[in-house]
Amino acid sequence: MPVPVILDCDPGHDDAMAILLAVAHPAIDLRAVTTVAGNQTVAKTALNARRMLSLAGAHQVPVAAGCDRPLSGALEIGDYVHGESGLDGPAFGEPVVPLDPRHGVDLMHDTLAAAGEPMTIVAIGPLTNVATLLRRHPGDRERIREIVIMGGSVDRGNHTPYAEFNIYADPEAAAEVLDSGVPTTWVGLNVSHQALVTADVLARLSALGTPLAELCVELLTFFGTTYQRTWGFEAPPLHDPITVAYLIDPAVLGHVHVGLRVELDGTHTRGATVADLHGRMDWAPNANVGLTLDRERFWDLMIGAVDALGRSGDERR
Ligand code: RIB
Ligand code: CA
Repeated sequence: MPVPVILDCDPGHDDAMAILLAVAHPAIDLRAVTTVAGNQTVAKTALNARRMLSLAGAHQVPVAAGCDRPLSGALEIGDYVHGESGLDGPAFGEPVVPLDPRHGVDLMHDTLAAAGEPMTIVAIGPLTNVATLLRRHPGDRERIREIVIMGGSVDRGNHTPYAEFNIYADPEAAAEVLDSGVPTTWVGLNVSHQALVTADVLARLSALGTPLAELCVELLTFFGTTYQRTWGFEAPPLHDPITVAYLIDPAVLGHVHVGLRVELDGTHTRGATVADLHGRMDWAPNANVGLTLDRERFWDLMIGAVDALGRSGDERR
């Protein structure tokens, strides 16, 4: 049975690829897309989500803009990685998919209420929308089967030396989601750095020979330039689609159930995620924390999705 999914995102180049995978694969029933401020402002992430859903031919999926700032603290924008538009690289035309007039959190709540079964939330941006949903509608906890999160790391960070961007951008939201009692599975940088968009991956995408594949190559080539400039990566890590691939085939992600915490007060470590992998603390296990990735399976799923949509989606621009 397909997994009913709400995708909360901040497109963002890797979010864009996650949208394509979620639309393309029959194991995913994408019921709604909500966006949050993160890689860019929430207006830009909403426009980018509409662009990608339009390109994927997913004209019936509602998409709404959510929170425009974190629960507390200053707004952090990842424009140094994703550019002024949030999807720099290719040129885009006007999207066909409209913007749903509801606030993203209201769209989440309405989608859960209408589902008739527990849903999975895939959260691949700052967790502000998800935390706000749980604050406003505590009863929705029972309607959520699992929250699969791209965020955190069992070792170092990226946005700061010890904090990954999605968590750093709203650490209070991450802590509230972690403590909500809803099962969570975390795909951190220690996993996503195993999914590098190497020259071979770009060559496989190019060889598909469709306008959508060409657009993905342009997106990922831009993404590679900012990763190289900022962190010296030879190839950029494709973080977000791993969450969707895990829902399609759980064997893609090796994970452990351990005690996890979000650092809120550290002078230099705010936003760090602390995974007690060796039981050194008296923390009850409270999260599934990703450790390993089946690269071959992941790339087959990701490239297969671009191929399938490229041969059946809308015109490229
Ligand atoms: O740190 C990587 C994460 O932050 C990804 O989700 C990327 O899209 C940005 O949101
Ligand atoms: Ca993201």
